[in-house]
Amino acid sequence: MIPTTRPRRAGRLGAAAAVRASLAALAASLAACALLGCASKEARVGLFLYNQADPYIEVFARQIRDESNSAFLAVQFDAGNSQLIQNEQIEAMIAKRPALMMINPVDRLASHALIRRLKAEDIPIIFFNREPLAEDMAIWDRCYYVGARAEQSGQMQAELAMSLFGNDPSGLNEYDRSGDGVIQVIILKGEQGHQDAELRTRELLRSFEARGFSIEILAIEVANWKRDEAYEKMGALLRSHQDRLELVASNNDAMALGAIMRMRQQGFFKDDDQSGKVDRFDDSWRPVVGIDGLVEAEESIREGYLYGTVKNDSLSMAKAMVELARRAIGGPDSGELHYRLQDEKYIWIDYQPFIR
Ligand code: GAL
Repeated sequence: MIPTTRPRRAGRLGAAAAVRASLAALAASLAACALLGCASKEARVGLFLYNQADPYIEVFARQIRDESNSAFLAVQFDAGNSQLIQNEQIEAMIAKRPALMMINPVDRLASHALIRRLKAEDIPIIFFNREPLAEDMAIWDRCYYVGARAEQSGQMQAELAMSLFGNDPSGLNEYDRSGDGVIQVIILKGEQGHQDAELRTRELLRSFEARGFSIEILAIEVANWKRDEAYEKMGALLRSHQDRLELVASNNDAMALGAIMRMRQQGFFKDDDQSGKVDRFDDSWRPVVGIDGLVEAEESIREGYLYGTVKNDSLSMAKAMVELARRAIGGPDSGELHYRLQDEKYIWIDYQPFIR
């Protein structure tokens, strides 16, 4: 059995019930496949999600399934944000002898035990979205990570904001609403300890500093990647900081959209100049920047609310994962890899800034 390093809450379902549900899903997908006559031809790959309710992960998983096409049968499991449940799902899948596992761990520190367990079974692993520690990745040569450099997204997010403020730290433009030469910012942070939350926040601040911009942090609030939580927390933050707020930098789009929803209720984002639309020329407009490139975020940008985002390119990651899986599994036409495999383990996909 896989030891759990730090058990998390088991969610609404008990662990056993969740595993029963996952096994039923597995049986159903295998039965469907048998009906379609593919079970004998296709390798089975376990696709383990930390939490399917996360909109970025939901799209990502769909892209992996679509890209896998006929290369293998991806059998998906949702851990509902519980490492305990994920461990049991993986354990149950081992008994079905999958060709490979794609794992989005709930707790990246649990990867240590997972790698050891799957090494003993000789089942290769592709981790994604939540990066195991380098020392854990080194345990086994058939374990890979596909992701993006979190530092890059923090830097790009800062670039978006700095260019909006005029790119000149000693002469900020009209978006410095108070005219004090300092940008007053609220930062919405993802889950504590997640590489993306920590590095995006650090690099955002470091980039402002490196370019000589003065920043006053009104608050850094953890909202766990969630739109609802950001909406709730933004209520209290605005009560204290509404009059001074000049920028909201969010570690992801979902939280940025939650913040915008609350800001609209509090009187921001009005069509003050009566141009017929909300845009950055309105007095009550404030820049909010996100990361991910969700469809809803792009819509919000088009509608004039969200200023910009940094695309966290899950489609390219999904393509890279599928190519890597084919190579790791072997079989006909399995060799081609269009992505650079660094240290025989890592594929890094670039982020891309996006504004209107
Ligand atoms: C990040 C993404 C977040 C959230 C998180 C989950 O890369 O930007 O929105 O999905 O992964 O691990």
